[in-house]
Amino acid sequence: MLILGIESSCDETGLALIDSEAGLLAHAVYTQIDMHKLYGGVVPELASRDHIRRVIPLLEEVLREAGRTKEELDAIAVTQGPGLAGALLVGVSIAHALGFALDIPVVGIHHMEGHLLANLLADPAPEFPFIALLVSGGHTQIMKVSGFGQYELLGDTLDDAVGEAFDKTAQLLGMSYPGGPAVSALAEKGTSGSIDLPRPMLHSGNLDMSFSGLKTAVLTAVKNAENPEDETFRANLARGFVDAVVDVLAAKAVKAMKQNKMKTLVVAGGVSANKQLRNRLVYEMKKRGMTVFFPPLKLCTDNGAMIATAGLERLKHMKPEEIQAHFKNLKFGVKPRWRLKEAAQDLR
Ligand code: KG4
Ligand code: ZN
Repeated sequence: MLILGIESSCDETGLALIDSEAGLLAHAVYTQIDMHKLYGGVVPELASRDHIRRVIPLLEEVLREAGRTKEELDAIAVTQGPGLAGALLVGVSIAHALGFALDIPVVGIHHMEGHLLANLLADPAPEFPFIALLVSGGHTQIMKVSGFGQYELLGDTLDDAVGEAFDKTAQLLGMSYPGGPAVSALAEKGTSGSIDLPRPMLHSGNLDMSFSGLKTAVLTAVKNAENPEDETFRANLARGFVDAVVDVLAAKAVKAMKQNKMKTLVVAGGVSANKQLRNRLVYEMKKRGMTVFFPPLKLCTDNGAMIATAGLERLKHMKPEEIQAHFKNLKFGVKPRWRLKEAAQDLR
């Protein structure tokens, strides 16, 4: 089966082709970061307009790269939510127009399920069950994943997502949006322990997290600094921030694994590209005889391959008559505030 994946929920247009036998054939991502940088964050209207410009050329690019034609497609998977409504509508409209024209099914995918299942494209790939740590610009969640579509939320952030905290810290350190990778690189030059920041909810006794206080601590450190532009100060502050984030995420992940007697941890979402988090989780898991999986680096941030993978899994779990019914029912829409649990319930 040849499936096209389309992602347009935020500021990346991602398209990919996956063959159920041969795996990932081609993927292409256009990032709008340079456009949004000017405004310090994503401007929804500009994002939607840009997705419209990019989606068809990217479709042509992946077909060319894979040496396939549209007519060879068997299905289309598209991000239906959560995300920016206008941005989602671009991908969903294109997917349904193509599906209608080619007479093939279209499946709506939850963006975070896509991130989670991007790990199936890693070699080796994790096997169910596992604990998932979902860390992106909009989510920071710990889940028990018993099988495909069986997701139990164990812990969540009470305020900012961890990616958001990275982006805000970057801004306070004078770096541009999105800033996660830049904070990480700056932290490499800093010294651990030279600026100690709070570890919010580290000992809360549950698996919930909070990152807005950490951001305030960074702000206070910048305000109180004699010379906030000093390179050593900036690097030490970035290091203090990253150390605090990594401490909290690692402690909560280990706690979730122990509580649920799990041996496998799967990390997903944009922040799973973070070097310090990766190193720390590998160390903590190895020490306990546990294993941690990450998506391939190029598939950590938003992309179409993760959506195509989730689509393929979803189709595998649907009966032919369900696919047919889904397809016949051509009304479509977006779900900007869709919860993963609701998406999983759609399978039953
Ligand atoms: O998953 P993603 O591409 O989009 C959302 O679904 O939100 O995640 C984007 C987030 C941004 O906040 C970005 O700063 C963060 O992931 N990020 C990183 C790194 N790469 C991306 N944060 C820390 N270190 C990185 N290397
Ligand atoms: Zn994402």
